[in-house]
Amino acid sequence: MKLRYSDITPEAIYMNRRAFMVGIGALALGASTTTADAAPPPEPGPLKAAPNPAYKQADPPTKYESATTYNNFYEFGTDKGDPVAHAATLRPRPWSVVVDGLVAKPQRLDIDDILKLAPLEERVYALRCVEGWSMVIPWIGYSLSAVLKRAEPTSKAKYVEFVTLKDPEQFPAQKPGLFGFGGGLDWPYTEGLRLDEAMHPLTLLTVGMYGKMLPNQNGAPVRVVVPWKYGFKSAKSIVRVRLTEEEPKTAWNKAAANEYGFYSNVNPTVDHPRWSQATERRIGEFRRRKTLMFNGYDQVASLYTGMDLKKFY
Ligand code: MTE
Repeated sequence: MKLRYSDITPEAIYMNRRAFMVGIGALALGASTTTADAAPPPEPGPLKAAPNPAYKQADPPTKYESATTYNNFYEFGTDKGDPVAHAATLRPRPWSVVVDGLVAKPQRLDIDDILKLAPLEERVYALRCVEGWSMVIPWIGYSLSAVLKRAEPTSKAKYVEFVTLKDPEQFPAQKPGLFGFGGGLDWPYTEGLRLDEAMHPLTLLTVGMYGKMLPNQNGAPVRVVVPWKYGFKSAKSIVRVRLTEEEPKTAWNKAAANEYGFYSNVNPTVDHPRWSQATERRIGEFRRRKTLMFNGYDQVASLYTGMDLKKFY
């Protein structure tokens, strides 16, 4: 069964988009979404990394073609095919990431420095989207902790905020006036983790996949991957990593707080208000399979000792 957009998107946003399409005209929207279609995004260059045997999956990786054509990247539109259709407008070079906020040593890291800051590892992770599908992806990167340690978080720092690039020229759905085209999210897309979650070795600063640099539609040139949480916690095309004392506001939580919590750990026992999270469909497979607590990453359980994960969803 294929989930429809109306199934996954907060109703208010969906209705706004629908009202826009019906009321103002689907043709205008169609035209605006296709202006960037002329060329496909460039094929990413090769990227070498040593496989890290500590992070592997029993199942084979999802086909590269599926992982790069079935995407969520609302900056390019809300349909799964929008990112690959529109991502040619994203320019992953030059690019830098600022690490600031509650740190002793703020950093501005050029993407070429990020590629060299620690040895690149290939890690095969499961990715579970909150919508109920999953993939297995061989990512390339290293633990985010390498970057955080360099910046030296102060004793006040309790959280980490990730900020995606805001540039409507590169991300067409950020253009003002296109109400609903980008799912009604408040740009830039932001996400966040508790500092101990961000420091956990599993949290990957990611620069590539499948032996290549990150394709534009997967969040070039640098993103985060947090495999025990729903996919929306893994912000793409980030330009800022900010250490804070307060829990950062996150894009989906701002859009629908009762549906998308700050923690968003994969949890088969806590349903989304509108659908069950007990099972998932692995892309490329027909039958649904059981969803595992923390997406199978039991090593993070101690981060949540004593917490009611129904309350902190
Ligand atoms: N990051 C940004 N900036 N914008 C987005 O719309 N979508 C999220 C996440 N990161 C998203 C994002 C969601 S819902 C998922 S499931 C994953 O990216 C999908 O990553 P993939 O397309 O590489 O599989």
